[in-house]
Amino acid sequence: MTGTPAQDAYAPSDEFVAAANAGPELAEAAEADRLAFWGEQAARLHWHEPWTEVLDWTGAPVARWFVGGKLNVAYNCVDRHVIDGHGDQVAIHWEGEPGDSLDLTYSELLAEVSKAANYFTEIGLTAGDRVAIYMPMIPEAIVSMLACARLGLTHSVVFAGFSPTALRQRVDDAEARLVITTDGQWRRGKSAPLKEAVDEALYANGDVPHSVEHVLVVRRTGVEVPWTEDRDVWWHETVANASPEHEAQPFDAEQPLFILYTSGTTGKPKGIVHTSGGYLTQTSYTHHYVFDHKPGKDVYWCTADIGWVTGHSYIVYGPLSNRVTQVVYEGTPNSPDEHRHWNIVEKYGVSIYYTAPTLVRTFMKWGRQIPQAHDLSSIRLLGSVGEPINPEAWRWYREVIGGNKAPIVDTWWQTETGAIMISPLPGVTATKPGAAMGTLPGISAKIVDENGNDVTLGEKEANGYLVLDQPWPSMLRGIWGDPERYKATYWERYAEQGWYFAGDGARYDEDGALWVLGRVDDVMNISGHRISTAEVESALVGHHSVAEAAVVGANDETTGQGIVAFVILKGSAENTGDALIDELKAEVSRSISPIAKPREIHIVPELPKTRSGKIMRRLLRDVAEGRELGDTSTLVDPKVFEDIKSR
Ligand code: WT7
Repeated sequence: MTGTPAQDAYAPSDEFVAAANAGPELAEAAEADRLAFWGEQAARLHWHEPWTEVLDWTGAPVARWFVGGKLNVAYNCVDRHVIDGHGDQVAIHWEGEPGDSLDLTYSELLAEVSKAANYFTEIGLTAGDRVAIYMPMIPEAIVSMLACARLGLTHSVVFAGFSPTALRQRVDDAEARLVITTDGQWRRGKSAPLKEAVDEALYANGDVPHSVEHVLVVRRTGVEVPWTEDRDVWWHETVANASPEHEAQPFDAEQPLFILYTSGTTGKPKGIVHTSGGYLTQTSYTHHYVFDHKPGKDVYWCTADIGWVTGHSYIVYGPLSNRVTQVVYEGTPNSPDEHRHWNIVEKYGVSIYYTAPTLVRTFMKWGRQIPQAHDLSSIRLLGSVGEPINPEAWRWYREVIGGNKAPIVDTWWQTETGAIMISPLPGVTATKPGAAMGTLPGISAKIVDENGNDVTLGEKEANGYLVLDQPWPSMLRGIWGDPERYKATYWERYAEQGWYFAGDGARYDEDGALWVLGRVDDVMNISGHRISTAEVESALVGHHSVAEAAVVGANDETTGQGIVAFVILKGSAENTGDALIDELKAEVSRSISPIAKPREIHIVPELPKTRSGKIMRRLLRDVAEGRELGDTSTLVDPKVFEDIKSR
């Protein structure tokens, strides 16, 4: 291995090891008997009725975990802690964007969740009904999720940055009976309307969805809202007046808990379905061990939004099941200025901080003098999620934010996996900058080639596909309303072996450490957000000037990938240059979300295609990333692309 710099690994300090939740015995127990191990982890929860079997895989690829067991997810996240005498512990230090804040104890949270549950019952919702939640990061959003869980209602949280079109698509697909929203949301000091977007979604094309009976609105910014009598109600006039007493009923371990839509390789988002017992077991287990969380001592902060799975699993369910005290922050990291996160860390004494690499790189760009102006000594553990973290960002994160001592956990997982699958265990694993290291105890993965053969350890070229070769408790149970797509997307590629195809490339290095390399399909990763090329293409083609569009994810220093689009105009369209490009960018932003707005759009006379008519994305990526172009023989005018490349 001459010429390669020695790879540094950071072993946990003796002090950290001595107090760590995890030890080597965890993996030993899982290896000795995997299912018994998961049974022990499930015992972290309160079960109204015990299960009779840990796993039933006879209906593969649809698993049933903790068969026959009954539990209430909200009881586990709230009531239990109050009953155990921790009602006065702060559950949520909520920090609003404009500077307002609120502490919510477990007793207060219980009262709020009970009120919402009583109101949802009063309007006739019953177990199994779907509720859409389209809200910014305010306590009522978390209360709404927990109230659904308490009643066996299935929530579908839609990121409040998504467009009315995206909301409508999700409301219709899940046939939601109730939509919960706010009047507006704070965005960098300004109130952006949200209820208005709901109305636009629900009246799209003049056609009203048959499923929605109620729209429940929380007053947040005070902005004026459109109103539909008999359908719309204010939270402060309904939920707020409901009884704070509510008895939680047990539900089956496989009761659907939520649907969360995520991008696949086609334009239509997939409604990923998660259920209760297995999901809560694995989110609770991973939150406890991966974050080394000590209830009543740590102050935890996951900077995600509840619109994404990270918010579901590592703000709501995992942490609250473990009696966390956590920060929930409503706004952006530079509101009012770039000191915001560090002010919050100081204010609450945050000890565990979990964020995405894209934000770490943004902090790097802003400069280390900003965090260094603060006392960050409370931080004792750092987490990363959403995309591969480059070694440079990893080192900066450890040194500047972690004071050269906090271990970093680089956690690989997906909306579909529900909880962390691959990550170092703090106190056990010596970590390498940029590597997710290995599977957690109880989880099994492989890196294989096209035919399912193991790739060889340590060979530089030995990149392979990441597969999960054993079912896990928090695995998705399907795609809402589309069992065929579930099978085709995840289980067809390695049908013979019965493995789950994750869609990521990965490799083992010479020491056996696992590195996740990124998506191998047409899914892009922009600032840790998953966006399919097909979705953006269909938004572009939705514009009256566009005949054809091809989209690729190109390397981007800050956001991981940036969206680069190539469009062919219709013969009738007038090419107004930059004006048209701006209009097309706005169209994508409007029809999907500002996060999907292309970084660049190039108007081209043709697109490179294979003989069979498939767009040659690799060539477009070479163009977008300024590389030498390979075979351009299918192009009538390669010069157009050479010119774009050299810009
Ligand atoms: C995709 C899943 C997991 C919650 C947030 C994203 C990428 C995620 C890592 C990581 C390298 C990662 C993968 C994965 N990804 N975490 N630690 N290292 N890549 O959830 O939107 O479902 O996206 O994010 O490509 O497949 P998601």
